[in-house]
Amino acid sequence: MKNLYLPFKVKVTKIEKHSSNVKLFRLERNFTKNEDGLVFTPGQFVLVSLFGYGESPFGPASSPYQDSYIDVIVRRVGTVTEAMHRLKQGDEIFMRGPYGNGFPLKFIEGKDMVLVTGGCGIPPIAALIEYIVANRDKFGRVHLIYGARTPADLLIKDKLKEWGKDIKVLLTVDKPTKDWSGHVGMVSELIDDIKIDSKNAVAAMCGPGPMMDALERILRPLGISDRRIFVSMERKMQCGIGKCQHCAVGDKYVCQDGPVFYFDQIDKSWD
Ligand SMILES: Cc1cc2nc3c(=O)[nH]c(=O)nc-3n(C[C@H](O)[C@H](O)[C@H](O)COP(=O)(O)OP(=O)(O)OC[C@H]3O[C@@H](n4cnc5c(N)ncnc54)[C@H](O)[C@@H]3O)c2cc1C
Ligand code: FES
Repeated sequence: MKNLYLPFKVKVTKIEKHSSNVKLFRLERNFTKNEDGLVFTPGQFVLVSLFGYGESPFGPASSPYQDSYIDVIVRRVGTVTEAMHRLKQGDEIFMRGPYGNGFPLKFIEGKDMVLVTGGCGIPPIAALIEYIVANRDKFGRVHLIYGARTPADLLIKDKLKEWGKDIKVLLTVDKPTKDWSGHVGMVSELIDDIKIDSKNAVAAMCGPGPMMDALERILRPLGISDRRIFVSMERKMQCGIGKCQHCAVGDKYVCQDGPVFYFDQIDKSWD
């Protein structure tokens, strides 16, 4: 029987600094594809471990069709992520997974999409966009709404430009620099730029925090029902496979029942 706890070795082959406290790490090995031809379902997570420091969950940000590497985008906040930020190209670390449910790819096919995220919430949404772009004819109008504090805090800028050829990319910042020509203000102020058929639209968010504001001011006014809003949630984790109860919220385990939930599965106890 396959041991779900067993980590495997990955080689760090690329490190990019994306903002003052965020780096992208390319983790290489020959990954196995599932029956849908994907290495992971966008929205699933992997557990990355560094000997002597511990293990942390990250949502892969690269294309799920790519089987020679997974990119993770890591914000430096504590023990594991600080150790990751000290890694050098060529270092070897460990990974296990993918775990969790991911976004419901079959359900979202054929629909218009509104993807809302902010700051460091972009990774699972990025992987979902890579999937959508690779299957562009299966989706209707797709909008990404992405907000950050300053232009320097917007991550994966090269991708944002590339995706602009296939989907509508709407960016906003709180504090502009002199050369910023995009929107300034809340993500919710971009609502007039979104043209969708609300009866056939689905939304995906990485939240909660400020994203809940986007829910009230964008998704509800657009008429997207709660059962068509999917939210990727973050919680502290240990086993990653529903055994240790570390990630429990109410009667749900984020690692196993999520990390992607219907919006109406999330209540105030999640904050
Ligand atoms: C499903 C999932 C996907 C994630 N994807 C990403 C990602 O793509 N990129 C990324 O940068 N981070 C992501 N995270 C968050 C990331 O796992 C944590 O930031 C990381 O585990 C912190 O580890 P640490 O040892 O550096 O921090 P610690 O030393 O453990 O803690 C530092 C601080 O961060 C807080 N913290 C730790 N873990 C979490 C967590 N899971 N959620 C919220 N707060 C936490 C602690 O309470 C503490 O205040 C994800 C989390 C989950 C559950
Ligand atoms: S992390 Fe152990 S039950 Fe979810």
